[in-house]
Amino acid sequence: MQPSFLQRYLHAFRRIDGWFSYDAALLFMKYNQLAFKPEERGNVLEIGVHHGLSTIAIAALRGAGKQLTAIDLFEDQQQMNVSGSGSGDRRQFEKNMREFYPDASFVRVIARSSKELTPADLGSGFTFIHIDGGHSPEEVYHDLKLCYDVSADGGLIALDDYFNPEHPGVCEGAVEFSLRHPGCLRPLVAGYNKVLLQKARDNSPDVSSAFLEAFPNLRHKRVRMWKSPVILLGAPLREQIDLYASTPENFVPFGSRGVRARLTPAIKSICAHPGQRIDIKVRVENVSSEAFPAGEGVFGLSYHLLDHDNPRAWLLTSLAPGEYCVLHLSVTAPAQPGRYQLEIDLVWEGVMWFKDIGNPTAMIPLSVE
Ligand SMILES: C[S@@+](CC[C@H](N)C(=O)[O-])C[C@H]1O[C@@H](n2cnc3c(N)ncnc32)[C@H](O)[C@@H]1O
Repeated sequence: MQPSFLQRYLHAFRRIDGWFSYDAALLFMKYNQLAFKPEERGNVLEIGVHHGLSTIAIAALRGAGKQLTAIDLFEDQQQMNVSGSGSGDRRQFEKNMREFYPDASFVRVIARSSKELTPADLGSGFTFIHIDGGHSPEEVYHDLKLCYDVSADGGLIALDDYFNPEHPGVCEGAVEFSLRHPGCLRPLVAGYNKVLLQKARDNSPDVSSAFLEAFPNLRHKRVRMWKSPVILLGAPLREQIDLYASTPENFVPFGSRGVRARLTPAIKSICAHPGQRIDIKVRVENVSSEAFPAGEGVFGLSYHLLDHDNPRAWLLTSLAPGEYCVLHLSVTAPAQPGRYQLEIDLVWEGVMWFKDIGNPTAMIPLSVE
């Protein structure tokens, strides 16, 4: 087992500076999956990359052998950042991109104001674009027009901050675009501080219906924007997806992979004194098709009780598919008498709890008297 791209990316949000959200990345990926077959995906573009947090996701949306164009003023031209939106840093950007794409030869960096650029500078046929550069009305209008011109038919254009009251210029510039070019860009979905627009094309598949079919339990509302039906999202998308089994190209629904580890405690219930230490033998069986990693600080068994972080019983040799081992879990009963539920789970340190990928945990009632 190795952490997946999506798991590594989720953890990168703790350390890479930016204004992006993980749910926005998943939203972009799902719409990209639905709007274009893999062989139809083309070049991708981002205006306003800052340190690359969102660019890592945008790069994953390109087609095989295609390019990412990254536009930013970076540190040398911040005097042109008229709306004070972020502050790109080319060294940070390149370092963060290399971590996810060691061969970054597909990245074309344009260190200029997007306002100076014309379609001739960019090329054409982009299938996904993220606009997150200057936030003044003039910049947003210009960026939308530029991106519309270079977009493929049916291409997706994500616009940042449309509904953010701190940046009214985004809405002003975008509404001006919609009035001057009616029907050219159709809003599909709004959520996670983004609006996703699509360049009109004949016989366009109904991507939003397909999206809702893929996530039947995702809370949403239907609203109208620019005379089009739009899905409004607020609930986290990440809870719907098995982040270990999914890739940016293909999402596996949460829980659909079934049981990967079977956890069988030797006892069915516990009665303990306040603060008592209890040793519980737990049989851990690998019923997945991959070997479990091993090592102290790497992979182990632990439990949840009263939301505390609890000690682990480490798996010190790897567990091959079909194998099992018995681990001794040391549990400390809470100081307060009462009835509790002890939830035993496997933890891949810094990567995930098995519960996060839909694996059943083992529950033991614990009564403290
Ligand atoms: C809000 S930040 C981008 C955040 C990034 N997309 C993320 O999610 O982490 C805006 C970026 O746009 C850049 N920028 C501002 N005005 C610009 C312009 N006119 N042309 C190109 N880049 C611009 C800034 O340098 C900054 O890096």
